[in-house]
Amino acid sequence: MAFPLIGVVIASALLIWYLLQGRKKKDSKLGNLKEIPGPRGLPLIGNILQLGTFPNDQFTKWSKEYGPIYKVHLGNQMVVIVSDPKLSKEIFTNDPIYTGRPYFEGFDMYLDHPGLGMFASEGEYWEVHRRFLLRQLRDFGFGKSSMEALIMEEVNELLERFTKEEGKPIGQMRETLRLAIVNALWTILSSQRFNHDDPKLSQLTDNIIKSFDITFSGGSLLIFLPWLRHIIPEYSGYNAMRKEFDGFKDFLEGTINNHKKEFKEENLKDFIDVYLAEMNKATDEKSPFYGTKAERQLAATMLDLFLAGSDSSATTLSWAIIYLCKNPEVQKKLQKEIEDITGNDRPVSVSDRPNMPYTLSVIDEVLRHSSIVPDGAQHRAMADGEFQGYRIPKDAWIQPNLFFIHRDPKIWGDADNFRPERFLSQDGKKYIKSENLQPFQVGRRVCVGETLARDTIFLYLTNIFQKFDVKFDPKGKEPSLETILGFFRAPEPYEVVMKKRLPSK
Ligand code: HEM
Repeated sequence: MAFPLIGVVIASALLIWYLLQGRKKKDSKLGNLKEIPGPRGLPLIGNILQLGTFPNDQFTKWSKEYGPIYKVHLGNQMVVIVSDPKLSKEIFTNDPIYTGRPYFEGFDMYLDHPGLGMFASEGEYWEVHRRFLLRQLRDFGFGKSSMEALIMEEVNELLERFTKEEGKPIGQMRETLRLAIVNALWTILSSQRFNHDDPKLSQLTDNIIKSFDITFSGGSLLIFLPWLRHIIPEYSGYNAMRKEFDGFKDFLEGTINNHKKEFKEENLKDFIDVYLAEMNKATDEKSPFYGTKAERQLAATMLDLFLAGSDSSATTLSWAIIYLCKNPEVQKKLQKEIEDITGNDRPVSVSDRPNMPYTLSVIDEVLRHSSIVPDGAQHRAMADGEFQGYRIPKDAWIQPNLFFIHRDPKIWGDADNFRPERFLSQDGKKYIKSENLQPFQVGRRVCVGETLARDTIFLYLTNIFQKFDVKFDPKGKEPSLETILGFFRAPEPYEVVMKKRLPSK
């Protein structure tokens, strides 16, 4: 007897859902615009079951089938996928309504204060804080020689370690690089530097990244079906992620409290200090820098910088090492350019960059081929909009298929090959920047760390390969170019052997 009743309930729910969808379209002032094409999905769950373990594979198949702009439904969320670099630039640059960010339920550091930090905030609150962050990061060193000195301090420590381990297999490359890389950023944020062997920072960083990797494995179910966290909190990885968020929150709040105790208006030594000074000036409750919310915004922003700033460049560099081991002729050419410019009797500096077209082309080819953020970061339409004659309803998500854009043979020709020369002029002498390369996404919300990431990747790559020839461990397994499950598109673990190229001084 129960079955027919359940059947009637489900059928009624589906009918109501269907009618509501039709009604929403009619009510919208965009009713006369074209509908974006896309694959059919099931009621209520949409296309979610079609995504599989590596959602980008499916998005890429659909990009081939439906063209540069199509839509899918994930649960009841409409997602617009843009698979063309010109359209991606246009939509993320021109109209500010597309600068919103989806609300990812359960992913906030402060569950009772959602939408804080640089990544999750939007509207005027985001704009004011982003402008402040960019100005301060620039003043504290992004793109300056003071930042280069901080990065080089870490590079040198790493080179010493590689020297000690010469000839032995070195694994855990991504983790090792992650810790070194986060240190330079952490110094300008908090004036603290951690020893590479300090277990506290490495544990905090590794744990939160591992828990994100676990949570984002298997098609990021928690994003599209957030209620799952109540039903399978362990299995979905939600509990593990929350534990890491709490650990990080204690660490960041402790650091901010120490800064408050030692605060001296006349000596603002790092980002936390200048933020606290701004808070002290804010007496109006409506100010974005006022009170507890602002202090939490500071902690959430630091977490974002930590997460976005360490593993992204470390993952890109660990891909770079793989490509250079798989393509020894590229490694040789890179080393030759380094020697031509520095004579190999001094380290490579950011000021050498304009004279190193081949190196720049290698870095761009690594960013293109690895596409560590294959689906970019989703934006949210903050109002009904029109794009290319299509209707984009309020709250739709917009996501670029960066992997497809970076591997489209119509743009790149032999797109699957690793070939740095594609970023060089015909005579091989000039580096040519391509607008089709968008690893940091584009437009109004473009990655705030692009300058730092490019400097970091350049300094690590050139200074490691100046000192060492690098090969896969001949006794180990050579990694494929397949990606492992996780937050970033990361390579399989691998081991390399370093051999010194230069006489010791
Ligand atoms: C190879 C390295 C990196 C890659 C590929 C990368 C990629 C990206 C992408 C695709 C976005 C999304 C932009 C958008 O929503 O339109 C982003 C945002 C962001 N990135 Fe990066 N990133 C890298 C390094 C960094 C570094 C070093 C930092 C920190 C200093 C950083 C901090 C951020 C932040 C805070 C955002 C959010 C910006 C906002 O929402 O306004 N990233 N990044």
